[in-house]
Amino acid sequence: MSPWAAQFAAARTQTDKLFSLLDPAALYDRPVAERHRIIFYLGHLEAFDWNLLLRYKLDQPSFHPTFDKLFAFGIDPEPGRAPADRASDWPLEREVREYGSRVRRHVDENLADLPEQLLHVAVEHRLMHAETLAYLFHNLPYGAKRGPSPAATSRPVITGNPMIDIPAGTAVLGRSKDDAFGWDNEFDRHTVEVPAFRISKFKITNGEYLKHVREGAAPPNFWTERNGRWFLRAMFGEIPLPLDWPVYVSHAEAIAYAEARGGSLPTEEQFHRAAQGSTAANADFDGWDPVPVDTGIPGSHGAFQMLGNGWEWTSTVFGPFPGFEKFPFYPGYSADFFDGNHFVLKGASPRTAACFLRPSFRNWFRPDYPYLYAGFRITSHTAENP
Ligand SMILES: [Fe+2]
Repeated sequence: MSPWAAQFAAARTQTDKLFSLLDPAALYDRPVAERHRIIFYLGHLEAFDWNLLLRYKLDQPSFHPTFDKLFAFGIDPEPGRAPADRASDWPLEREVREYGSRVRRHVDENLADLPEQLLHVAVEHRLMHAETLAYLFHNLPYGAKRGPSPAATSRPVITGNPMIDIPAGTAVLGRSKDDAFGWDNEFDRHTVEVPAFRISKFKITNGEYLKHVREGAAPPNFWTERNGRWFLRAMFGEIPLPLDWPVYVSHAEAIAYAEARGGSLPTEEQFHRAAQGSTAANADFDGWDPVPVDTGIPGSHGAFQMLGNGWEWTSTVFGPFPGFEKFPFYPGYSADFFDGNHFVLKGASPRTAACFLRPSFRNWFRPDYPYLYAGFRITSHTAENP
């Protein structure tokens, strides 16, 4: 098997395994109101490859124009504009699977004629969906999916989450055209000076956030309460809320918490500074759920888990780096989201593939989207930089 055939096979295995967790009836469910029904994604993963590799690049004639179009793009509606289609509007699973098998055969037969950049785009696109599909499946009822029961760790809860000092210095963002593959928004590489600041040593935990909820904040999407006790809705079952796991919240919830504590969220530049020297912890499909926030080894400045165990929200509005150019073959990948309504996330989650652990990778979502495996930490000023 050629190296690219192996990469496609590995990425397809990841997404095929995800779909195999589902009760087939759940394929027509819409577990998140702002996204398509699951059946869309079964077709989308293949239609994307077809439209990019075979239609756009190799100009091959379409064998199913209706599906190429139906499954071309996902959605990210403004608040209050969720889709209203019915399950019966979608094709049969059998038809979608037949389309997919045929696309895969065409792709595999043409790999040698395709440029590396587009092959990277196709493989990484599929792996991104391996994560975003997990978010969707997370919100299905437990009876609609099968998987390993969550295991909460029984260990002493960490005592405190001190603020640590990050000295003033430079951060390198983005990548250069001479580097290996990156998405359009990762270019160009540039260096910024970051003044000294302070940041939480650990991600904010469920235990810390519980105090905030007891003070009146709404509980996160991943929590549920029964008889006065809090539980975590883990991927395959509920467990008593693990107080030393990172809390996963929306950007709006993260900001409100930070402000209530007199702090802020880090900027994208500050995140880069604090993350220097970090190694991955709980990423690349290691597990389905988080681990305690003090697992792993800290980065050069003493912060834990800047890469893994949950994305982290930043205060930076998603926008282009100096020198940004759209990909001609996918002009809307980033530019459609430079609208002031999306914020940058950095790091990685347990369901983030290894290829996205490069420091230049940027993720972005709307501030009120609560379904991500994303938490945060807070920053504050130093005495020298009040
Ligand atoms: Fe997609």
